[in-house]
Amino acid sequence: MSRLNDKYALITGGTSGIGLETARQFLAEGAKVAITGRSERGLQAVKEKLGDVLVFKSDAGDINQQRELAIALQQHWPRLDILFANAGDVTHRSLQEWDEKTYDQLMSTNIKGPFFLIQALLPLMASPSSVIVCGSVSARIGLPQSSAYAASKAAILSLARTLSAELHPRGIRVNGLSPGPTDTPALGKLGNGLGDEQLRDEIRRLVPIGRLGTALELAKAAVFLASDESAYVVGTDLLVDGGVGSL
Ligand SMILES: NC(=O)c1ccc[n+]([C@@H]2O[C@H](COP(=O)([O-])OP(=O)(O)OC[C@H]3O[C@@H](n4cnc5c(N)ncnc54)[C@H](OP(=O)(O)O)[C@@H]3O)[C@@H](O)[C@H]2O)c1
Repeated sequence: MSRLNDKYALITGGTSGIGLETARQFLAEGAKVAITGRSERGLQAVKEKLGDVLVFKSDAGDINQQRELAIALQQHWPRLDILFANAGDVTHRSLQEWDEKTYDQLMSTNIKGPFFLIQALLPLMASPSSVIVCGSVSARIGLPQSSAYAASKAAILSLARTLSAELHPRGIRVNGLSPGPTDTPALGKLGNGLGDEQLRDEIRRLVPIGRLGTALELAKAAVFLASDESAYVVGTDLLVDGGVGSL
């Protein structure tokens, strides 16, 4: 397939889960791909697995690093056609357990960083181009322990609408892609104290179709939003969630 032929695509958080599988699918569709992550070892492992990808060590919650990332990318590529702001802090805990430092870190990674990354990349963005922000079905439901996380995802999904209104005259579409519970290493990073099997059982009960999603199912949706096939899709929130947010 060649739906992304000659397109330049940046994926934040591309060393694992949905970001890694999306990098694989973007490459298979003909795109040139760059990914970010915080761990040098994780980035090198992806280079070994996927081959021809650019890798940048960059913390999505650090505003200066977002600006440096945009400058570094400009030195490699003539333009950017696709940005998938995928990196996310998935910390879940009860209200009493939140402290300011953990809250600020989550908000920086999930909303402040992506906001300033989009700003920094604007001079490089092509017309047409596609920005995909990673939301979550959690923004639409009231899941216990998801308070700060769900609020951050509601905020970034709001950005998909407002920035679409602001940027479509420049040929830039912005859309949200909202996973439901998806089988990735993130499930082990929620920090809500549940064991792996107990957590999976609880999650399966939450999903109307009775199973977790796969990274591939999310990556296929990202390919659609990234490609010109979705040229009429602007400012939306694409739920890929087994029915959690709708049934
Ligand atoms: N899995 C789910 O059930 C689910 C459901 C709804 C929404 N989502 C959203 O989907 C997105 C991807 O999640 P996933 O399930 O694929 O998680 P994952 O397997 O844990 O992968 C997360 C990726 O983001 C990177 N990352 C995390 N924090 C980062 C930071 N501050 N700066 C740069 N990179 C960072 C990680 O790399 P390093 O740790 O090496 O930096 C890794 O590459 C997230 O936005 C998450 O909120 C996931």
